[in-house]
Amino acid sequence: MSTLEKAIANLPQKGFLNMDIPEGLNLVNEINRMRKEKNAIILAHYYQTGDIQDIADFLGDSLQLARAAEKTDAEMIVFCGVHFMAETAKILNPTKKVVLPDTLAGCSLADSCSGEGLRALKEKHPNAIVVSYINCDITVKAESDIIVTSSNAEHIIRSLPQDQEIIFAPDRNLGRYINQVTGRNMILWDGACIVHEAFSLERIAQQMLDNPQAKLIAHPEAQKPVLQMAHYVGSTANMLSYVEKNEAQEFIVATEEGILHEMKKRAPHKKLIPALTIDDTCNCSECHFMKLNTMQKLYLCMKYELPEITLNEELRIKALRSINNMLDLSKAIK
Ligand code: 13P
Ligand code: SF4
Repeated sequence: MSTLEKAIANLPQKGFLNMDIPEGLNLVNEINRMRKEKNAIILAHYYQTGDIQDIADFLGDSLQLARAAEKTDAEMIVFCGVHFMAETAKILNPTKKVVLPDTLAGCSLADSCSGEGLRALKEKHPNAIVVSYINCDITVKAESDIIVTSSNAEHIIRSLPQDQEIIFAPDRNLGRYINQVTGRNMILWDGACIVHEAFSLERIAQQMLDNPQAKLIAHPEAQKPVLQMAHYVGSTANMLSYVEKNEAQEFIVATEEGILHEMKKRAPHKKLIPALTIDDTCNCSECHFMKLNTMQKLYLCMKYELPEITLNEELRIKALRSINNMLDLSKAIK
């Protein structure tokens, strides 16, 4: 189901978003009160707005968030991220209520691939195993053998036999990057992230000339020329650790700009320069899906316990197998 179809399917649940929030209501206090009363845990991704990151019980990248969702004993998981992340939480912890402030919070990568499409590709390569990036929906996870995130993709692919044929879906940039660093020749699904594909090689090269001491750090969803130019390529969590620990004092950051909120906290004296995109009138380095979640919607979502993620049990069991394979294969990764 595409993001739009999902949103239409959820329209009855979304009606409450039009309700007024009483003027002057202190949203932070209300969210804190409901968190206790309802035994809820708020999980947030680094691309959320700063106020949501600050109020979260747990902030992380997609691997860390999946692990946190699996192990929580809270009654309700309030997932501040995008739909596939909340869906993954529900797959891993089905007895908990999982809510997402805005069900329209989709992902261009997840939308690029369907379970049906992946099945057709598998039929053409019957000996291949399917490794899918976690940025995909439940139907794709159900058709996959192993899920990976940007934190563990390289580690997991290296653990597979060198001569094993592999289909990698849905991110062509991450797949190409893993092919390059591991010497594999995985068959790649042709999907991409609209945010990470918007970075401009020419403009970043100019930023590097203007800031010769700065290190370029990039998320592997960025295009090949940007990754080739980067001093460091890693997941959101790994980029944060790199900036914190590396002796350099200046960094050009090629990923969604929400990460700068946590980066500034961890490295307050370092100079952080958001990498430039092709069009400087578009705010292209913001993921508009991630930014659909707001404090107002978070408040309403906790109050009404909607929109709720519900899943087909047969699909859930199939998808769980590929996610569990990832968790088993990446125990060594923090
Ligand atoms: P991470 O796995 O690095 O958190 O990335 C998630 C994502 O959506 C990147 O665009
Ligand atoms: Fe999807 Fe890209 Fe947004 Fe990440 S930044 S959620 S990959 S659209």
